[in-house]
Amino acid sequence: MAEAGTLHDAFIDELRDSYDGEKQLTKALAKLAKAATSPPLREAFEAHLEETQGQIERLEQVFELLEEKARGKHCDGIAGIVEEGKSIMEEDFDETTMDACLIAAGQRAEHYEMAAYGTLVAWANAMGHTEAAKLLQQTLDEEKAADKKLSGLAQGGINQGAVGAADADDEEEPVGAAASSARKSSAKARRR
Ligand SMILES: [Fe+2]
Ligand SMILES: [Fe+2]
Repeated sequence: MAEAGTLHDAFIDELRDSYDGEKQLTKALAKLAKAATSPPLREAFEAHLEETQGQIERLEQVFELLEEKARGKHCDGIAGIVEEGKSIMEEDFDETTMDACLIAAGQRAEHYEMAAYGTLVAWANAMGHTEAAKLLQQTLDEEKAADKKLSGLAQGGINQGAVGAADADDEEEPVGAAASSARKSSAKARRR
């Protein structure tokens, strides 16, 4: 019978998962930055993209400390979040609403990463990998800061801007669109 895996094996597995996830996110963050209209939002995505490249290097350092080859293992969780982000970018939203949606997509990724790195730090500490724990904690702090930054941008004007865009849309609605929204509300009423 094969020997049962240990927490060390699980730790290496999770590191590989994060390594792959970060690589997927570098591509996704570039797309989010490109899709953003608000300059501070674009800058936030670009800055986090740069940080993410540093996080990849940090994971390589962790692998080295553990005398393991730096290797990724497909991260299905991040792949799903990236896929959802892609479909939202294909939607036809006004610019500010799209920015609010890009923030929502970005924050899903940050929260996933916060969960992953939280576990990695805890496991590294439990197994006495102090150096590795320190490096992973640095990344965890960056993910938390990136998440906070996105919340700040959303609550500091982008969400309100999207509400304003919707109101302006309602006022200027031409007859055709008004008719279609009337159809929508009657459809809603029917569903009730
Ligand atoms: Fe990251
Ligand atoms: Fe991140």
